[in-house]
Amino acid sequence: MHTSVEHVRVGFIGCGRITDLQVLGYLDHPRAEVLAVCDSDQGLAQRRAREWRAPKVYGDIEALLRDADVNAVEIALPHHLHRDVAVAALQAGKHVSLQKPPTLTLAELDDVAEAAKSAGRSVRVLENFMHYPPHVKAKELVEEGVIGAPLSVRLKTAAGRFEDGWRVPASSQQWRMNPDLCGGGPTCFDHGYHCYNMGRFFIPEPVERVHAWIHVNRFGADSFYDGPAMITWKYAGVPKFGSWEVIASIGMRVRSKYYASDDRMEIHGTEGIIWVNRCTGLLLDEPALVVYRDGETRAWHDIPTDWAESFRLAGYEFIEALIEGRQPQQNIPDARETLRFAIAANLAAREGREVRLDEVGADTRALLPIAV
Ligand SMILES: NC(=O)c1ccc[n+]([C@@H]2O[C@H](COP(=O)([O-])OP(=O)(O)OC[C@H]3O[C@@H](n4cnc5c(N)ncnc54)[C@H](O)[C@@H]3O)[C@@H](O)[C@H]2O)c1
Repeated sequence: MHTSVEHVRVGFIGCGRITDLQVLGYLDHPRAEVLAVCDSDQGLAQRRAREWRAPKVYGDIEALLRDADVNAVEIALPHHLHRDVAVAALQAGKHVSLQKPPTLTLAELDDVAEAAKSAGRSVRVLENFMHYPPHVKAKELVEEGVIGAPLSVRLKTAAGRFEDGWRVPASSQQWRMNPDLCGGGPTCFDHGYHCYNMGRFFIPEPVERVHAWIHVNRFGADSFYDGPAMITWKYAGVPKFGSWEVIASIGMRVRSKYYASDDRMEIHGTEGIIWVNRCTGLLLDEPALVVYRDGETRAWHDIPTDWAESFRLAGYEFIEALIEGRQPQQNIPDARETLRFAIAANLAAREGREVRLDEVGADTRALLPIAV
């Protein structure tokens, strides 16, 4: 239980590409507002302040953290900055929402946990797939036993032509091409965090071991794509497996209002199957959610499916947790387990062997695979 707040007055630290969506909950919620913005790109910070009607604009993070009227921060920075900025924000008495992947290593995340404990403030790691309405509904159906006991999760990411979808500024790509800043590759570490988290979301047993092929496609000296990839894992103590496949169809158009890629998944149980047919994009014109059981197929057509909704709901969850003085969903121990999974998968690909999650040390990094 943390001290509750009457009204959430958030400061955005980092106002880049994803904050278009990350801000939605704050713009909408009657007990929240964007009070301040900060970005080292001053033009961008000014533009965001106008768009979000934020009264205060800061050029450096320390100045925003000194603002006593800001009681929470959204951190949307390149990953190598997450630990230091989260710790400083907590020490300044702010509640923290930290974009995924939370940090580069487990030790860094432990520092954030320690700072939260000392400050008596909340931290949540924003993983929006957990809030995507078709995923929420699928989880509800799994928990109701609609497909019996869940046995397997299979995810597939289809990436298409880069020029489709929304415009991603070069600056947003640049730091992702440097594993020292990104923590690993843009697909199998950065985006992968969502998929590893989904592998954990639908099956209750902890993930124990992982194996991975990750092919690194290089485009010149400064650019690469860490895909195609095939990552498989085993859950502890039970014969249950999961898998995630990444396919880069560089000539295929993926209809999307956001990134030009889409994620689909399939959850098999002892008595049925659930399919979630979209997420970030709009690849297939199929119902968002389909369940097969007892020879019957049922489709859900009326669930909100716009990816942006997952961010709005994630914003609401954080705001309401702060108002109620409770820990938001996606606490640090849970995020730590997903991070450990992400690092283990990359290690498995790099070393060409199966890796147990408990081999991931405090300082182990998700080094880029060399070759398959
Ligand atoms: N949940 C999702 O689906 C999702 C999608 C995309 C990105 N993200 C996460 O959001 C975060 C940001 O990603 P992005 O794509 O918006 O990146 P981005 O590069 O577009 O934005 C980062 C912003 O941080 C600013 N910045 C960098 N250093 C700074 C500093 N020292 N002080 C102030 N500002 C600074 C940059 O100017 C930039 O505007 C990352 O953690 C990323 O993984 C999550």
